[in-house]
Amino acid sequence: MFYSEITKIIEAGLDRDKDKVKNYSILLAKKLMENGDEKASKRIETVLSRKNYGSAITDALIAPPVDQESRLGIVDIDYSPIAPDIILSDHVKKRLDDFENTVKIKDKLDELGMPFNMSLLLYGPPGCGKTSIANYIANKFELPLVTARLDTLISSLLGNTAKNLRRIFEFAEKQPCVLFLDEFDAIAKARDDRHELGELKRVVNSLLQNMDAYCSNGILIAATNHQELLDDAIWRRFQTVIDIPKPSCNEIDEMIRATASPLDLNGIRKKYYYTIVDQLEGFSYSEIQNLIQNVVKHKIIEDNMIATECDFLHEIISFKYHGNLTDSLLIKYLLECGIPQKTIADNLQISVRQVRNEISD
Ligand SMILES: Nc1ncnc2c1ncn2[C@@H]1O[C@H](COP(=O)(O)OP(=O)(O)OP(=O)(O)O)[C@@H](O)[C@H]1O
Ligand SMILES: [Mg+2]
Repeated sequence: MFYSEITKIIEAGLDRDKDKVKNYSILLAKKLMENGDEKASKRIETVLSRKNYGSAITDALIAPPVDQESRLGIVDIDYSPIAPDIILSDHVKKRLDDFENTVKIKDKLDELGMPFNMSLLLYGPPGCGKTSIANYIANKFELPLVTARLDTLISSLLGNTAKNLRRIFEFAEKQPCVLFLDEFDAIAKARDDRHELGELKRVVNSLLQNMDAYCSNGILIAATNHQELLDDAIWRRFQTVIDIPKPSCNEIDEMIRATASPLDLNGIRKKYYYTIVDQLEGFSYSEIQNLIQNVVKHKIIEDNMIATECDFLHEIISFKYHGNLTDSLLIKYLLECGIPQKTIADNLQISVRQVRNEISD
């Protein structure tokens, strides 16, 4: 038990790395306490306080790595990430649970000679929850989230990029944390004529080596919108790979109910509720959230919290036309969605004849 923490403490001791000794000792004390061994946990805390090392994990996180040229920070650190309210398909939930549960039994797997590399690759379209999931996992394991955006690193000279990557891993190694490599495809994208191919290969190789060394004890999450750019060597490195797709009907329904909770949805007839869900297919979670927040906002302005199908459909078509929507387009769209002429007329406060005119046009 606690093999990974003890190994880390021994390693750090041999390297004379005080911060790392301290941080992993704090983690070990915490785990012992959770495991019911209060006495051993307290003993470690006493040693730490006697040596005046303090007890806040954050102490060691004070000096995050910076780019040597620009002197700008190359990671963002969230010491206590919040678990966002995310809605996920059953398939994604299952895969995430599996990853979490495997991390929890990692020590046991090590004992059995079945090393588990704690790496997770999330891929899929923008706005569907990759960054949110990284926060969720860090929160679940009560660890700080150290985020490095590779696209901002790669813009500098490649020689510098390799150094920056090494610094990030060295930093993450020093304390228990979740290392999150966002925009992970940036490495692959750099394969253009600005950069020499051999040099880029060295960057990729150094990334892979750093990953291998890091993931045996630390949790690494990488995210990309451009999975097609990643080569096989990179894919193979990840123990768990999860596709995070756009929401399907069930998740859209959940998103509507969660985001529109300030509204009374009883004004929507059942058959049109399905039309709304249908019309939202193909949007990302983030777009659906924005769109529904707009409905809520407009209903508050209108001072009428009873929402109708027209309120939602109006917002959807307006979103599709980036706000450049004419009355004529709106009426045609509502008719296409099967909304009765009279309802449209009432909603837009126009006559039924005006609605009919749009059909004959
Ligand atoms: N699955 C989800 N459930 C609920 N809300 C979501 C979900 N996915 C995204 N959102 C909303 O959209 C916002 C942006 O999502 P997030 O940053 O996690 O997406 P992403 O996949 O990382 O996008 P990108 O590829 O652009 O980085 C979130 O803060 C949240 O409000
Ligand atoms: Mg993101």
